[in-house]
Amino acid sequence: MATTSFTHPQLFSRAGKSAKNKAVLAPLTHNMSEDNGDLSSDEMAWLSLCARGGFGTLILAATQVLPGGRCWQGQPGLMSDFQQGQLAKVAAMARRHRVLTIVQLHHGGVRASVELNERAPMGPSAIAAGGRYPLGVEEMSGEQIAELTEGFVSAAQRAYEAGMDGVELHGAHNFLLCNFLNPTLNLRSDEWGGSVFKRTKMLRDIIAEIRRRLPRNFIVGVRLSPESYANVRGIALSHQMEVANILATQDIDYLHFSMGDSFKAPNEGEGSSLLAHIREGFTGDIPLMVAGNIADGLSAQQALHLGADMVAVGRAALGNPDWFNRVATRTKLVNPPFSRKQLSLNGFNAKGLQYLLSVPGLVASTEDGAQV
Ligand SMILES: Cc1cc2nc3c(=O)[nH]c(=O)nc-3n(C[C@H](O)[C@H](O)[C@H](O)COP(=O)(O)O)c2cc1C
Repeated sequence: MATTSFTHPQLFSRAGKSAKNKAVLAPLTHNMSEDNGDLSSDEMAWLSLCARGGFGTLILAATQVLPGGRCWQGQPGLMSDFQQGQLAKVAAMARRHRVLTIVQLHHGGVRASVELNERAPMGPSAIAAGGRYPLGVEEMSGEQIAELTEGFVSAAQRAYEAGMDGVELHGAHNFLLCNFLNPTLNLRSDEWGGSVFKRTKMLRDIIAEIRRRLPRNFIVGVRLSPESYANVRGIALSHQMEVANILATQDIDYLHFSMGDSFKAPNEGEGSSLLAHIREGFTGDIPLMVAGNIADGLSAQQALHLGADMVAVGRAALGNPDWFNRVATRTKLVNPPFSRKQLSLNGFNAKGLQYLLSVPGLVASTEDGAQV
């Protein structure tokens, strides 16, 4: 049987847009925006390298939609005309390379920084997740939920006006939209809680309102965590598959699963890989995008073989913004840990490097890249 290659185009049929290949730059927080969320020339330079490097689609880092949800000092924002104007430059740059651009819309929820927001984090219920949140978590009122829903929709409008091809709603990694989905953090008994369907209400409302306001060629995707790992506790694969299948009926263009490792066995159930499990359970007729340990051409191809339609590349892209061009021409990749020199050549300034140093195994411990 002929297997699709990640070098082949990918159609988002509902939006009528096509990516020139199935390789996607995963959303990667770089911490290089200004303190108020304005995009910096360094992050634009990094995105430009990725566009030139052959990716068919770029998903921009988790981007703040409303004051109060900030997680990183150098997190980009999409809340002002100026920020919209800067995004327009990124969109125009990418268009010149025939690359689709999608901005990831984000609110930190229970993980929002107390210091950066000068307030307690907000969530669906007043449950402080772990000891990192000294002020506790404030349960959101119906009014606050409506305001935040509008924040996501307004940011999507700004992305559209800026000429971006779409938005991705960040429903993974224990941030706000993920918190609403999580039965251990969402104990509400009103319209936003009490059943899987109700826990998806905020996402469904955001999607419906984006569709009402913007032309149908604007891509809307959702990113989910499939199960508990890393920062996420309390979600199970069977629950998240129900969520994915509900969302796939909501006029979105793709579903994106963010995994630590696409090829691991699922926490629940037996046998096949997590990705194969997801493919089997996903009933949507939209592209399935996956991220997690897709490091080279072989793993990209393996992910497609297991049922992914598109592959998102995270860490490998940090050292290889030209990841696609390299794997498509069988050119050797630079492997982690990446040297600081390599990362700075790829656009990472001192703030960016400082952030990347917090990710285990990503950056070499000495200047020249040697391990000590
Ligand atoms: C430095 C860094 C920043 C990240 N920032 C984001 C982000 O802004 N939004 C998001 O959804 N995931 C983020 N992730 C997760 C990646 O998108 C990806 O899902 C994860 O790294 C697994 O893919 P990989 O094995 O190819 O790295 C980040 C990961 C890293 C290493």
